[in-house]
Amino acid sequence: MSARFPKKDGHGWTLVSVEGRYADHPDTFEIPSQDERSSLLPGDGAKLLFDIETRENGRVIDRGVDRMWVIVRSRREGRYLGVLDSDPGTADGLVLHTGDEIVFGPEHVAAIDRPPASTSSRSTVLTSSWSEEQPDEESMTMNPGLRKFALTTHIALSVGWIGAVFAYLVLVAAAMRSQGDQVLRAAWIAMELIGWYLIVPLALASLLTGLVMSLGTRWGLFRHYWVLVSLLLTIVATAVLLRHMPTGSFFASVAAVTDSVNVSELRDALRGELLHAGVGVLVLLAIQALNVYKPQGMTAYGRQRASQFTSPPRSTDDARPGPSLGAINGTPRWVQVVGIHAIGLALLFAVLHLTGLGMGSH
Ligand code: HEM
Repeated sequence: MSARFPKKDGHGWTLVSVEGRYADHPDTFEIPSQDERSSLLPGDGAKLLFDIETRENGRVIDRGVDRMWVIVRSRREGRYLGVLDSDPGTADGLVLHTGDEIVFGPEHVAAIDRPPASTSSRSTVLTSSWSEEQPDEESMTMNPGLRKFALTTHIALSVGWIGAVFAYLVLVAAAMRSQGDQVLRAAWIAMELIGWYLIVPLALASLLTGLVMSLGTRWGLFRHYWVLVSLLLTIVATAVLLRHMPTGSFFASVAAVTDSVNVSELRDALRGELLHAGVGVLVLLAIQALNVYKPQGMTAYGRQRASQFTSPPRSTDDARPGPSLGAINGTPRWVQVVGIHAIGLALLFAVLHLTGLGMGSH
């Protein structure tokens, strides 16, 4: 165990001065008085703000501030030596672990706490978990094991959704190419089954696990454009799916009646399925690309949060370097491009629905 000094180069983290932050936001950010921050004793808990960079394959993919508890061990010449009590998680390039010794000063102390009375001797309390019982908004992130599990689940369900829509398209194509009515009827019945028992549950599960991944990590739900756009596109895709499913059920019920003579109606309705599933799969692939590439760009809310938790405030680009796709007036160009295409698609769908062209209306 070696003492860690607040230095980002090489260690992936640095300590934030709470005095600077207090000066910027005196109404919303409270800190203990200078006297209190300068007179900590061994065994006292000090909450420090760690500015952490998360790297993957050498590239910085996230940057944010975690509040973590350090238990004071000793004091010398106005500086403290403490032991990190919280779990910072793991990330490429991050050299910080529970139990590490941290050197800090009164200017880094955001809050002070003492061990509960039941703890025997304060001077022997060096690494305990008493401070972690206290929930903290900024450190409400999943631990690394849980995050890996949640991410695996999220990817399986979301990418499974894309696979299920491809299977649906295969059935639509087989029905379109069929000569007689047997394959046509069978395809409609199978499409309804895949729709209700696979595509709908996977869509809802993808949305739910996406929310968990956003709220349970430093990405947040409203901080980065790529998360916000993924959320909106997924909600729209799920809403269109749920609205369209009864049409599929109707034609599946027609197909199930073997002596029904209305085969041409079943065949005509396939164009609507091709359009819905085809556009749907493109939208889902776009969401997947957004989630994997995580293009740069923070929302106004994300920038405000970043500046609240850092001193001095950083620019968007500084906050999280990533693939640069250009920005106009603070809104990244890729957000504008996705937005224009989404509006175009919505108009196309509206026109097709209103004119009844190829939508398999009944
Ligand atoms: C069709 C829907 C979706 C697909 C195909 C999808 C796919 C993926 C994939 C493949 C990853 C892993 C990327 C990587 O780490 O390299 C991922 C991560 C992530 N997704 Fe999704 N996703 C979908 C919907 C959503 C939604 C709706 C949200 C938010 C509300 C969301 C939020 C996230 C977040 C925050 C991560 C990063 C997690 C982390 O790095 O810990 N996803 N997604």
